[in-house]
Amino acid sequence: MTKRHEGKSHIVTGAAGAIGFATSEILCREGGEVLLVDINAEGLQARTAELAAKGYRALAHVADCADEAAVEGYAKAAMEQFGKIDGFFNNAGIEGDLAPTHEYDIAMFDKVLHVNLRGMFLGLRFVLPHMVEAGKGAVVNTASIGSERGLAGACAYNAAKHGAVGLTRTAASEVAQKGVRVNCVMPGVIETPLLVGMLEQMFDDVAAGMKKLGEVATLNRVGQPREVGDVVSFLLSDEASYVNGAKWEIDGGALATIRNDI
Ligand SMILES: NC(=O)c1ccc[n+]([C@@H]2O[C@H](COP(=O)([O-])OP(=O)(O)OC[C@H]3O[C@@H](n4cnc5c(N)ncnc54)[C@H](O)[C@@H]3O)[C@@H](O)[C@H]2O)c1
Repeated sequence: MTKRHEGKSHIVTGAAGAIGFATSEILCREGGEVLLVDINAEGLQARTAELAAKGYRALAHVADCADEAAVEGYAKAAMEQFGKIDGFFNNAGIEGDLAPTHEYDIAMFDKVLHVNLRGMFLGLRFVLPHMVEAGKGAVVNTASIGSERGLAGACAYNAAKHGAVGLTRTAASEVAQKGVRVNCVMPGVIETPLLVGMLEQMFDDVAAGMKKLGEVATLNRVGQPREVGDVVSFLLSDEASYVNGAKWEIDGGALATIRNDI
């Protein structure tokens, strides 16, 4: 097993969730130490305890990723605990309610943008200075295949995820020559509580809905959180030293083609 994160210190947000936790576990297994951040205190404690029980150095930090002081706080906590931040998976997010744009609840729109876009910006705003000062670091933001296509019923989520690519590219261009890389991943349909939250609003039968959505992928199935985590681990590692400002599709080939075989 590769130990490419040996001696490295990382922050993962949304770490009580499926993709964040799977990624945290991979980073730990590959030798890293991780500060797991989430707003869900109970879930976070349970997930962190699970990693600690395996002998990993995993610390929990409860924070609202959309709150300025809380974000400054988790960056500071990582510096206090680890002395440095080598990698940052800027991943927390919510799905929001589904409704057509012309009927979308305005408060809900603000909420989704607040968490998914402002939260991502704040993460960059407070973590990047530590990396720039150190002259090294790598960031991965979680975008979505919805960063590349419209998502009927999810205007707020979709707009935020388009914004995630903009934040990635701009930050990447600003800090590259200071030794810091910024990339994003674009997961497709991944089996997580967030996906189930969306499916519950779309289908009476969630399992059938999941199968149907899995068919957008050329691989003809939904993806698993680990399949995102493995790519994030690579992007945060030195093996990805020439990858910057990029968006990595992890979608089973959904964006690659218009399927004509279903
Ligand atoms: N599941 C998919 O199909 C899919 C596809 C594309 C992108 N994504 C993105 O992947 C990321 C992770 O989502 P997931 O699918 O693992 O869902 P998840 O619901 O399992 O995880 C999301 C986590 O973010 C946390 N969170 C929400 N708001 C927060 C806040 N304000 N502060 C701190 N933490 C907060 C939640 O508590 C939860 O633990 C999200 O950004 C999501 O948009 C998911």
